[in-house]
Amino acid sequence: MSIYGDYIKSVIRTVPDWPQPGVNFRDITPLLQNSAAFRKLIDSFVHRYQEMRLDTIAAIDARGFIIGAPLAYELNCSFVPVRKKGKLPFKTLSETYKLEYGESAVELHADAFERGARILVVDDLVATGGTMLAAAKLIRRSGGEVVETATIIDLPELGGSQKIRDDGYDLFAVCS
Ligand code: PRP
Ligand code: HPA
Repeated sequence: MSIYGDYIKSVIRTVPDWPQPGVNFRDITPLLQNSAAFRKLIDSFVHRYQEMRLDTIAAIDARGFIIGAPLAYELNCSFVPVRKKGKLPFKTLSETYKLEYGESAVELHADAFERGARILVVDDLVATGGTMLAAAKLIRRSGGEVVETATIIDLPELGGSQKIRDDGYDLFAVCS
């Protein structure tokens, strides 16, 4: 939990039964619409990472970009998009992961960072952990050092954060 965790949690909206019955969707748009809350959110990440000598923020398509870009700017890091399959134009590396039904993949440009670069992987939410884990593995396979993975929201009851930690990656969550 971060310095502003309780406050950030209070401005996230839960939408019941979306996108399907039985799902409580955690909606970050009220947080983004609130300029004071958005600033506190970015400050939470800056506070945690300003002394960690990061080289690169790798942000996951699409909502990870919202936090990854201001964080890279503030920490003087490079910004690398980890995109869903088929979106990147140059030579790519790919990592597949399981969805509830079927499979998906995240991709990275082959020249996205130097070997040994100190990288933070960011996304808005960890549910099953499949997306974050695939991104972290892809970065490690590409020669990057995954210093930590980070998210605004962890849904621990879905087991994703445990899976990420069991695979040897640290995970920071602003709130759960
Ligand atoms: C959501 C969320 C994470 C992922 C988390 O993205 O933004 O990337 O799911 O789920 P997981 O931990 O079970 O992998 P979504 O697939 O909805 O894509 P979007 O960001 O493009 O809307
Ligand atoms: N909110 C946003 N994205 C998600 C969620 C959620 O509750 N669950 C899986 N991806």
